[in-house]
Amino acid sequence: MTETAVITDRPADTAAVVLEGRALSRHYYLRRGMFGEPATVRALVEASFKLHAGKTLAVVGESGCGKSTLARLVTMIEPPTSGQLVIDGKAIAAGHSVGHELRRKVQIVFQDPYGSLNPRQKVGTILEEPLRLNTSMSAGDRQAAARAMMQKVGLRPEHYDRYPHMFSGGQRQRIAIARALMLNPKILVLDEPVSALDLSIQAQVLNLLMDLQEEFGLAYLFISHDLSVVRHIADDVMVMYLGRAVEFGRAADIFEAPRHPYTRALLSATPTTEPDKRHERIRLSGELPSPLRPPKGCAFHPRCPFAYRPCDVDLPRLEPAPGGNSVVACHAVREELI
Ligand SMILES: Nc1ncnc2c1ncn2[C@@H]1O[C@H](COP(=O)(O)OP(=O)(O)OP(=O)(O)O)[C@@H](O)[C@H]1O
Ligand code: SF4
Ligand SMILES: [Mg+2]
Repeated sequence: MTETAVITDRPADTAAVVLEGRALSRHYYLRRGMFGEPATVRALVEASFKLHAGKTLAVVGESGCGKSTLARLVTMIEPPTSGQLVIDGKAIAAGHSVGHELRRKVQIVFQDPYGSLNPRQKVGTILEEPLRLNTSMSAGDRQAAARAMMQKVGLRPEHYDRYPHMFSGGQRQRIAIARALMLNPKILVLDEPVSALDLSIQAQVLNLLMDLQEEFGLAYLFISHDLSVVRHIADDVMVMYLGRAVEFGRAADIFEAPRHPYTRALLSATPTTEPDKRHERIRLSGELPSPLRPPKGCAFHPRCPFAYRPCDVDLPRLEPAPGGNSVVACHAVREELI
């Protein structure tokens, strides 16, 4: 069994599994100087998870923990160094090209709605482009489909002939979401989709995403550095630190009873108005270590207030937390010291 395989074991789920990551890893090799030894960045290490139809898996962690790397693997922009992706029951063999049919099932929305839309194309063209490239629909049908999708994401008919710069950030993100949905995907990867938006606009876009999920039965892989953003949208949460999943569980359990010290620290940084939901505060101190030289043992140990004897030597494995529902990679949790 791989070290994270345990997190795929979720018998309580009844919704169909539309995508599965099996021990997905991605390494980058960097050459240091002209004659230097190549260094390896382990951007993602053995991530295992399942996405269920109509459900949201949130992936949360600080900058550089491997969230976008995971997004690139799931959307097949990059192949994994090792591990396997299974989409709609079809395992994607390493080194084999992936057909159009499989690719169109997974679409992505990026953080930056300014950079991800072609400034020289009108909204109508942007939305019809995926249909033009991937289907044999007539121009009239493509326009009708684009206009119908504009309505679903809350854009007005007159927006069809406007350019992206004529919209606010929130509206631009609606255009990006509409474009991602044009090919009727099953899975949407949302890489920090509201992080660039004002708080009030964030809520509107999150509500839109939840409505669209219900209407189309979409599975979301929702990436955020901020746990509070995913509180209402997530069904499951995977917390990552320096390329590894450190806690995985149902959102309700993660928010009610976080177990891993890193999850607890992330939640401590999240404001809450409900006094009974406040947990013992853990301040996240110290710098995030370089992913080129992650600390030995538990990579979180230089910043962890509970670090003790085994933590700087032994890598903690993800395993079910005693007395809880989540799976956690922490020696102190396993030994019931915290
Ligand atoms: N093409 C690449 N070549 C080398 N290193 C890379 C490459 N892409 C990502 N990395 C490294 O892999 C690690 C994970 O990067 P990634 O972009 O996945 O993090 P992230 O969690 O999305 O961060 P952020 O919140 O800042 O978007 C980082 O240390 C990053 O520097
Ligand atoms: S394994 Fe040790 S260092 Fe890592 S989170 Fe648990 S207590 Fe802290
Ligand atoms: Mg990123």
